[in-house]
Amino acid sequence: MTQHFIVIGNPIAHSKSPEIHQVFAAQAGIDIDYQRQYCPDDAASFTAVIEAFFHGGGVGANVTVPFKQVACDCCAARGGLSEHAKVAGAVNTLLLNKTLLQSDVPTAEALYGDNTDGQGLVNHMTSLGWPLTQARVAIIGAGGAARGVVLPLIEAGVKQLTIANRTLTKAETLVTELSAASHTIAEHDIQTCTTTELTGQFDLIINATSIGLSGDTLPLAEELNCHYAYDMMYGRTLPFLQHFEARAAQISDGYGMLIGQAALSFERWTGHTIDVALATETLKQ
Ligand code: ATR
Repeated sequence: MTQHFIVIGNPIAHSKSPEIHQVFAAQAGIDIDYQRQYCPDDAASFTAVIEAFFHGGGVGANVTVPFKQVACDCCAARGGLSEHAKVAGAVNTLLLNKTLLQSDVPTAEALYGDNTDGQGLVNHMTSLGWPLTQARVAIIGAGGAARGVVLPLIEAGVKQLTIANRTLTKAETLVTELSAASHTIAEHDIQTCTTTELTGQFDLIINATSIGLSGDTLPLAEELNCHYAYDMMYGRTLPFLQHFEARAAQISDGYGMLIGQAALSFERWTGHTIDVALATETLKQ
């Protein structure tokens, strides 16, 4: 029997998710239909679209820009949130809470939200052989992308975490909010500074800003160095990565994170574990 999935966003035409999930389905030996779903940019439309989808028998949905926060609010008031979604304040994976469904709760009331973005990033770096245990890590950026990776990084065992941002108050507010949302984070000492103040030697530096979209470059200090540099963006030449490659760091863009978060969504929905390296090879062909 065909299982139905969507990715919902605005814009959505560019999404690679249908192609990625078809590769997973072929690997798992199951039949799926996975469609791009456009939605007007307002909460009422989003709720109407996902309710109709799940009411019609849909198994799972991915959520992308600009609906991740709306999806989080929606699930918080219904079937619940995973710890990662709650702390990120954002949902990228929707499914139905089976326990609630079994107790005769209406489908729309059973919507459950997870967030696989941060764990997708951690899994990708692990697959690259980048050591996270005891690592000294700097994240540049304090928006939604940064918020989603902090808990998975701490769970992966990083020792020292610094959040640097153009606007210092945003980094400080982020740390306050994350500490309030999670005991794991509250117990972990997170430093903050402006991007220009970020200096010294790190094991890993992650670019979680949206700067790749603007064409600007980050003002990185001359004395800032790392062994590994990761840009959560993908698909174009990224000055952040070029900067650290020229300083002999190992680098990666965020394409593997895209596959990694998708694989975790697929696993939540279907119970099938994906060989991400094999799927990535297929997608590159
Ligand atoms: P996202 O959800 O993708 O993280 P966001 O919440 O809008 O997007 O956050 C964007 C991040 O990129 C912020 O950290 C922002 O810095 P500010 O908080 O100072 O605005 C950062 N950013 C965006 N454009 C930037 C630029 N040109 N230079 C430096 N930082 C930039």
